[in-house]
Amino acid sequence: MDWCTVIEIVVVAYIAIQILRLIFADCDLQLQWAEKFGRSTGSLARKVVWITGASSGIGEYLSYELAQAGCRLVLSARREEELQRVKKQCLSYGNLMDDDVLVLPLDMLKFDLHKPAVEEVLSRFKQIDVLVNNAGRAQRALWEKTDIQVDRDMLEINVLSVLSLTKQVLPHMIERKQGHIVNMSSIAGKLGAPMSGSYTGAKHALQGWFSCLRVEMFPRNIAVTNICPGPVFSNLLKTSFTEKSGELLGVEMMEGEKRMSTQRCARLSAVAIANRLDEVWIALQPILTVVYLSQYMPTITGWVTKQVGVKYIMKFREGK
Ligand SMILES: NC(=O)c1ccc[n+]([C@@H]2O[C@H](COP(=O)([O-])OP(=O)(O)OC[C@H]3O[C@@H](n4cnc5c(N)ncnc54)[C@H](OP(=O)(O)O)[C@@H]3O)[C@@H](O)[C@H]2O)c1
Repeated sequence: MDWCTVIEIVVVAYIAIQILRLIFADCDLQLQWAEKFGRSTGSLARKVVWITGASSGIGEYLSYELAQAGCRLVLSARREEELQRVKKQCLSYGNLMDDDVLVLPLDMLKFDLHKPAVEEVLSRFKQIDVLVNNAGRAQRALWEKTDIQVDRDMLEINVLSVLSLTKQVLPHMIERKQGHIVNMSSIAGKLGAPMSGSYTGAKHALQGWFSCLRVEMFPRNIAVTNICPGPVFSNLLKTSFTEKSGELLGVEMMEGEKRMSTQRCARLSAVAIANRLDEVWIALQPILTVVYLSQYMPTITGWVTKQVGVKYIMKFREGK
């Protein structure tokens, strides 16, 4: 066998392995690699991590994952009793003392409370190592029927409140010459998700804003990670917006639907944080493959998506 044949076999085998890894994957290749060979979440021990939207869903389970890694935590959301429940569970792992977890109720829409909230965290812990902008709301509605006020509401909660809190935390990180901003974006921040125009627009905006910040902050040793999950079990559809401002969708996710477990999404998010990855995609198949294809062949993927149609796509999104 000559060298050319050996090289050809190695290349073909490598491509085959990558294809197999993709078929069985629930996240992008770099995140898979980081989970196996990268920094462990234990490397985050004693870091001060502030998680917004920690009272349920992904934020709640990320709090558990980071508590097990030994992070000191600030838990924020509006419902204080739910945050206390999450704190109790965080303490039950035995890595943290009562003083290591601060419950800090915060309505992200009350922008004037962001500065005092940052001051409160700093007066308790003297530092903020990681800010996880996770609080958010979804939306289900036809684009043409969506009231413009819903678009505004969605931008307020999923974009502007995140920018505001981050702008209050950044000066502290810049002064310390270290820090990490993490945003819970979505696969809807990468692709057009029909029946969620305002949500998709808001998550795309988040990606854009923070991709710029990432480049600006690199020389200052501040990382920016955008996490993009596909469908995950949580309370998201219960409090989702509709076409009318102020109306809630009120849909419960049901066991047996095809969604990623909240625990798995939180685990992969924690790996992304520990490894300071720029952007990660966390989704079951076939959504993960669609994201890959749409990055490299947007028009062909768009053509296929249009042929498949809204009804069928929504079945996938709803885990049916
Ligand atoms: N689940 C999915 O399929 C999925 C997929 C992709 C991306 N995401 C993103 O993941 C993030 C978390 O969502 P989730 O799925 O875990 O849903 P969830 O269970 O509904 O959690 C949403 C969290 O946001 C908080 N929140 C909502 N409005 C708030 C406000 N005005 N001020 C402060 N906190 C507020 C909620 O707490 P309170 O009600 O106590 O305030 C709750 O803790 C969101 O950004 C969402 O877009 C979710």
